[in-house]
Amino acid sequence: MAKNIQEEILRLKKEKDVVILAHYYVDGEVQALADLVGDSYFLAKKATQVTEQNILFCGVSFMGESAKILNPDKRVIMADEYADCPMAHMLDIDRIAQVRQEYPDVAVVCYVNSTAEIKAHSDVCVTSSNALRVVQALPNRDIFFVPDENLGRYIAGKLPEKHFIFNDGFCHVHTSIHKEELLKAKEVHPDALVLTHPECTGDVLELSDFIGSTSEILDYANQTDAKEYIICTEMGVFYELELKNPQKKFYSVGHRQFCPNMKKITVDKVLQALQTLEPVVEMEEELRVKANVPLTRMLELAK
Ligand code: 13P
Ligand code: SF4
Repeated sequence: MAKNIQEEILRLKKEKDVVILAHYYVDGEVQALADLVGDSYFLAKKATQVTEQNILFCGVSFMGESAKILNPDKRVIMADEYADCPMAHMLDIDRIAQVRQEYPDVAVVCYVNSTAEIKAHSDVCVTSSNALRVVQALPNRDIFFVPDENLGRYIAGKLPEKHFIFNDGFCHVHTSIHKEELLKAKEVHPDALVLTHPECTGDVLELSDFIGSTSEILDYANQTDAKEYIICTEMGVFYELELKNPQKKFYSVGHRQFCPNMKKITVDKVLQALQTLEPVVEMEEELRVKANVPLTRMLELAK
């Protein structure tokens, strides 16, 4: 990154009272200029604690929306307004009403990777790092887990006392990591530990040594003595993994571990967003208030 761009970004951040939040899946050079980098849970939590008046989000739409829902008085700016997560839309709202009718005591548990509208119809939100804790804390036996089926099935496997209803949403990046490719990677790197995100399919999870959110994968690699790791999540995490562990080796499984939406965010777009303080996340107040209920409940239950 050119030094003058970096200096200009620092100057504008200060002048305009902006904090930059970034997800681990954006490019390393964008992570390098952010004030806070984290997984979805960390970013949602931090968004409620920052003191700056403006939040510039380097991530996909649902992350900026969550920041706005939790902080109506702040200006939330997206580095790229078209960076959107396809999985966030993979649920028809009518299906929620249908399931509620069928199971009157159901809790609709909504992965944060969802639109504000889906959140507004849900009882509680979860992220991959707190889903187990949050669902376990719910009094309901029937759980409708939306929109991600893979994360839902992973959590269901840990909570046999609950009855889960699933939705067929998925992350195209994580489900593109196939068992056959992972087996080949294990053959090439027999000593490597396999660290996997729970958005991957069950057959990939079965072959893994550790399953966790992006932050949990990073913590595990930082704290474990093994020298080699096969990483089953989006490539953006390699930046932090290699930065913190220069003596360890990290391998990908295939060439598709790449989220095209996260990668829309560039340093130039960050600079432009700082110059204009646009595009902003906007939302009807009625929708925001409804979507705030499950998000706030998640923050409470995950404490
Ligand atoms: P986490 O950062 O919460 O692990 O989420 C992964 C993801 O897919 C975000 O889009
Ligand atoms: Fe959505 Fe998957 Fe990209 Fe995350 S990695 S933003 S879940 S498409």
